[in-house]
Amino acid sequence: MEASLILLPGDGIGPEVVAEAERVLEAVARRFGHKFHTRRMPIGGNAIDSHGDPLPAETLSACRTSAAMLLGAVGGPKWDDPGAKTRPEVGLLRLRKELELFANLRPIKPSPHLLDASPLKSSIISGTDILFVRELTGGLYFGASGRKPHASGEEAFSTMIYNTGEIERVVRVAALAARKRRGRLTMVDKANVLEPSRLWRSVSAKLMSAEFPDVKYDVVLVDSMAMHLISRPRDFDVVVTENMFGDILTDEGSMLTGSMGLLPSASLGSSGPGLYEPIHGSAPDIAGKGIANPLATILALAMLLRHSLNLEQEAACIETAVDRVLAAGHRTRDIAGGAPSIGTVEMGRHVIEAL
Ligand code: IPM
Ligand code: MG
Repeated sequence: MEASLILLPGDGIGPEVVAEAERVLEAVARRFGHKFHTRRMPIGGNAIDSHGDPLPAETLSACRTSAAMLLGAVGGPKWDDPGAKTRPEVGLLRLRKELELFANLRPIKPSPHLLDASPLKSSIISGTDILFVRELTGGLYFGASGRKPHASGEEAFSTMIYNTGEIERVVRVAALAARKRRGRLTMVDKANVLEPSRLWRSVSAKLMSAEFPDVKYDVVLVDSMAMHLISRPRDFDVVVTENMFGDILTDEGSMLTGSMGLLPSASLGSSGPGLYEPIHGSAPDIAGKGIANPLATILALAMLLRHSLNLEQEAACIETAVDRVLAAGHRTRDIAGGAPSIGTVEMGRHVIEAL
């Protein structure tokens, strides 16, 4: 196969972890006889520095015509000034919106070799296998927002807004995934308080009974989900929820695996290129030190091969290699629990050897 991929290294540890994923990609190309053309494009803080725009026009147009995109992370203290004209995160949000990447898949499956790396008891987390499907182009992130003068100073608002179509399409993605897994779907909302959640509830229930009578469907309020996620994570199969709830719950869920450094994600639209990224951020505190865990980005690459290029065997091969590396006891600092650890490049090299 021949395919064009866009690499979006971004800020902080982004370039370090994307470099390892690229080496893994080259190894996969050699082993399976594929040709991948990669191009690096600026996004986030570095793009603000070089182009005055966190999503330069040439980055967006290169992304549109690619087969898929692999992103590191965006953001950092350098661009954190609340008075700044724009922010690195705006680049990522605009990319998601422009390409209509409405379904964000975040699998959470603790490695049996890392049960002790989680702050939670292994008796609670072992056997967990959850697929979060987070709505990614609506809700509070994209509703009307602004500021107004107020007697006490200022007033600020963001709006949570959803329509029937936006809810249906993401619930459908989640239900199809549930059908291929253990056949269970949980929808998370705050229907006891929020009007958009009440729309989620009625639209989802109707869709599930009309199109997915074979999928076991239930609803959970987001506050109680925050609790169930760490007290009985094994009970969940696929979980679908709106943008902000999904953002928060998946960071919480990452702790089931021990480290944010292990979780990949895929952002997909109904057609066109997908965006793949680790769920962790730019980790400015460890940027440039060569100690970041590249496994989440390497696993994001596996998702890219599977979902955008239909290369299931190659994807599984990367996942098996990562599993072997962990089984052999190789640990970056975030998962070493204070024991001796290896760096980013060395971890990448182990994965390639295991391939
Ligand atoms: C994520 C991140 C982003 C989000 C930020 C960087 C805008 O936290 O992908 O979860 O909030 O969606
Ligand atoms: Mg987040």
